[in-house]
Amino acid sequence: MGLFKNFVSQTRKPEGFLGKLMVNGMNSGHAKLADWGMSALDGVSADCIAELGCGGGRNARELMKRYPQAVLTALDYSEVSVEKTKKTNKKAVEAGRCRVIQGDVSSLPFDDGTFDLVTAFETVYFWPRLEKCFKEIARVVKPGGSFLICNESDGTDAATLKYTAIIDGMNYYTPEQLTDALRTAGFSQIRTRHYPDKPWITVLAEK
Ligand SMILES: C[S@@+](CC[C@H](N)C(=O)[O-])C[C@H]1O[C@@H](n2cnc3c(N)ncnc32)[C@H](O)[C@@H]1O
Repeated sequence: MGLFKNFVSQTRKPEGFLGKLMVNGMNSGHAKLADWGMSALDGVSADCIAELGCGGGRNARELMKRYPQAVLTALDYSEVSVEKTKKTNKKAVEAGRCRVIQGDVSSLPFDDGTFDLVTAFETVYFWPRLEKCFKEIARVVKPGGSFLICNESDGTDAATLKYTAIIDGMNYYTPEQLTDALRTAGFSQIRTRHYPDKPWITVLAEK
């Protein structure tokens, strides 16, 4: 594998030295997108949050600032991401307010109806069998709870679509495709937003 392909493929599952570089870069590189994405949560209350595909853990930290009373579980299948998220949220982990778990979104290690809010920033591209993963999320969300997806690609922009040819197992989705998959998984009240001059999207769904 060439160095460029190897490096960009670290977005799918950060591993080793390049993976460590990637998670550091994601924390700063995705900050503006994630902050805009979190503004979709205005009016959404949550005491128990799951942040899936947490990468370097910066969004877990920001969610805990946005919801100062909440406890948060961050999950990622990459050991590198899990370790970085623990470091980024060291104080909250030590205080018992944040737990960081290594696990796969397609088989979540949580009881039914655990969370008020589940979030997924820049990660659904890599999830195997999207509808099955969305059904898993529907299972662990409380009735009336919310699921937020935030992506930098709206599934049509050429600049990011080229990565599907480089990164194995990566898929981009339009807001319509995400909406259909969410509805099939049991979500409703699905609201999509598009950033004014970028292909960034949010999809917020209720169970
Ligand atoms: C591009 S990074 C985004 C990280 C972070 N959410 C952000 O916005 O900066 C994608 C992350 O999703 C994780 N991921 C991808 N597929 C996953 C799965 N099936 N289960 C758990 N984590 C997954 C990867 O390990 C990686 O840390």
